[in-house]
Amino acid sequence: MMKILLINGSPKKKMSASGFLLTLQSLFVRGDIQRESLRTKGDHGRILKKLKDTGTVIFFLPLYVDGVPSHVLYFMKDMEGYCRVNQIHLKVYLISNAGFIEGKQNEALMQVFKNFCHACACEWCGGIGIGGGVMLNVLRILFFVFAGIFLLGIIISGVQRGDWLPVEAIEIFLRQIAIIVFLYSGVLFYMIRMAGAVNKGEFSGVKYTRVLVPSFLFIIIANIFFIIISLGKGGIFRGWLR
Ligand SMILES: Cc1cc2nc3c(=O)[nH]c(=O)nc-3n(C[C@H](O)[C@H](O)[C@H](O)COP(=O)(O)O)c2cc1C
Repeated sequence: MMKILLINGSPKKKMSASGFLLTLQSLFVRGDIQRESLRTKGDHGRILKKLKDTGTVIFFLPLYVDGVPSHVLYFMKDMEGYCRVNQIHLKVYLISNAGFIEGKQNEALMQVFKNFCHACACEWCGGIGIGGGVMLNVLRILFFVFAGIFLLGIIISGVQRGDWLPVEAIEIFLRQIAIIVFLYSGVLFYMIRMAGAVNKGEFSGVKYTRVLVPSFLFIIIANIFFIIISLGKGGIFRGWLR
């Protein structure tokens, strides 16, 4: 069975968009799947050892300053040396997500990975650059909020009126799910396509997609979101500075 290593390169301990995309992609790829989290130098040795024993690696990274997060850069340096010394020739894929809405923001990062693969004699197998990563991350939380409200509605309707199948509540919930799936559809489409390529060991192409919200709406929503987050973190100005 083909061994596939999925590496989450977000420094966040939990609730990262990269971690979520990793979980999604593990539903679509077939093989002996291993998951790793790359956050500090302490993770390097453990992950490098696993490289010896795998054929395919998929990196899941956040875009930082139009490029590779610095802690991942240190790992890439170590990986380059390790692959050369141990004659390891891996197939490498990348799924990166950016805060800005345009998937193309990830273009330079894709190029860096292509060059990196060349430097460590690995095979660059393509990637997906995703825009609106923060919003995608928030949408999955919204899904659970909607599901919670839906369940609460069913319980209240059941207990108060004996109606355990309230049609209106079901309709609202299905509509909410449909909207979330629609907003995710570009990402899901390319991830499923990439999984097909991973399963066959082929080049997947380099594709860019985004959360499917029009840009003018994204800007308004993002501004409101970050003002609220800033207030929660100590007031508009102190929050922003943090
Ligand atoms: C230090 C830092 C630099 C960032 N630079 C960019 C950037 O250049 N372009 C962009 O679109 N988003 C940028 N972002 C936003 C992240 O790419 C975005 O929040 C992403 O969804 C984080 O992914 P994660 O949850 O997997 O860590 C940056 C975030 C941080 C913390």
